[in-house]
Amino acid sequence: CRSGVTVRRYCMKNPTKLRVSEAFLDAQVGEKVRIQGWVRSFRPQKQNLFLHVNDGSSLKSLQVIAPAAMNDPLLGFGCAVEVRGILKKSPHSKQPVELEAEQIWVIGECNPVDFPFKIKERHSLEYIRQFLHLRCRTNAFSSLLRIRSEATAAVHSYFKNNGFLLVHTPTITSNDCEGAGELFQVEVGQGISWFWSFFSVPVYLTVSGQLHLEVMSGAFPRVYTFGPTFRAENSQSRRHLAEFFMVEAEISFTESIEDLTKVWKIGSTGFTNCTKQKNLITYTEAIDILKRSSETFTFPTDWGCDLMTEHEKFLVKHCGNIPVFVTDYPHDLKPFYARDNQDHPKHTAAAVDLLVPGVGELSGGSLREERLDLLRSRLGECGLEDTYSWYLDLRRFGSVPHGGFGLGFERYLQCILGVDNIKDVIPFPRFSHSCLL
Ligand code: 4AD
Repeated sequence: CRSGVTVRRYCMKNPTKLRVSEAFLDAQVGEKVRIQGWVRSFRPQKQNLFLHVNDGSSLKSLQVIAPAAMNDPLLGFGCAVEVRGILKKSPHSKQPVELEAEQIWVIGECNPVDFPFKIKERHSLEYIRQFLHLRCRTNAFSSLLRIRSEATAAVHSYFKNNGFLLVHTPTITSNDCEGAGELFQVEVGQGISWFWSFFSVPVYLTVSGQLHLEVMSGAFPRVYTFGPTFRAENSQSRRHLAEFFMVEAEISFTESIEDLTKVWKIGSTGFTNCTKQKNLITYTEAIDILKRSSETFTFPTDWGCDLMTEHEKFLVKHCGNIPVFVTDYPHDLKPFYARDNQDHPKHTAAAVDLLVPGVGELSGGSLREERLDLLRSRLGECGLEDTYSWYLDLRRFGSVPHGGFGLGFERYLQCILGVDNIKDVIPFPRFSHSCLL
């Protein structure tokens, strides 16, 4: 449209559309604007209506003031609206601006009787979890989602700034990296029998991108991946999901567990680095601590037994409620790829777990067995030599000492936010007997 008149008419009909976050910058004060969003609070008073409208662009909502005559039965908590009016400086110190409404359109009404969230009520995370399809409309869950998004960006920025290459590892794979038998097999869909022959081998949803990262670490000394991983663990615990996001890193030319733990420490400054107290103990020391304690544990604390959540919690408390690295686990407890600590009196592997307050195990890693003969015999013991012939090739051609770790992103969020249940830090939780939406 080249005619100035048409442009002016167009502008008059359509005042600038502002996001609420832009409105707060108050550059448009005095101008006619329009915003679109959802009503987060609604107070009809004698002379005026007071609404708070949120469009997701900011944590804060924009206060809208309208003459009481604009009240409408369709207008209320939860509905979607477009408001046009003049943006004004607010007399209240808590908000820089407010919108003096000239017109309000209800774009989508919201029946207050059926809507599960009530105005002015504080709902628990447990309550809102019953409404997975609606819970992003609550302040509590939308705030969690924002933090999750920021934390995701921070993970990528940390790795980028520290010379790591991002590798998109596959979701469908033919290997069981952890060997724990917690695989979801990708099954033939109803009526699509060609799918099976499509891959020719059984395929699974990945439990870890580690082996694919190890492939890449033969050419790039610092690689990472960050994506969904799947475990068919029959658990409804507050720290287990069937689908969770894992941050995994692999570093070549690394010869000690301490070198590996530095990546965690630098990556989380003020978190694992926050203390001068001893925060690295061996598994053998951990067992000693558990055995000497007066606590009664449900699970055994003998050398060779896995550390359970109750043990992890105790160890964290014992060390002063700080993040604790536990190293050198019994060799038999760790997957085939963990490096054998041959020089240790007890048969251990160069593996490490990071335990944190409130959650227990946040991260697990190890040096990888880079010696061809040892790896081959370990795979032979597990009956996996043929399955992993390609993995042996990595040791055959230019093998280097290397190691890495995986960190459960939801457990990390649980830990930093103090959220009790892992199902409340992921948009769509999947766990045994539950795959809603
Ligand atoms: O200790 P895990 O099983 O380690 C691995 O998978 C390695 N291959 C990673 C690597 O070295 N690249 O899992 C790593 C972390 C755990 O410490 C835990 O935080 C998280 O993944 N995790 C889970 N989080 C939520 N729900 C589950 N079911 C989880 N299983 C593991």
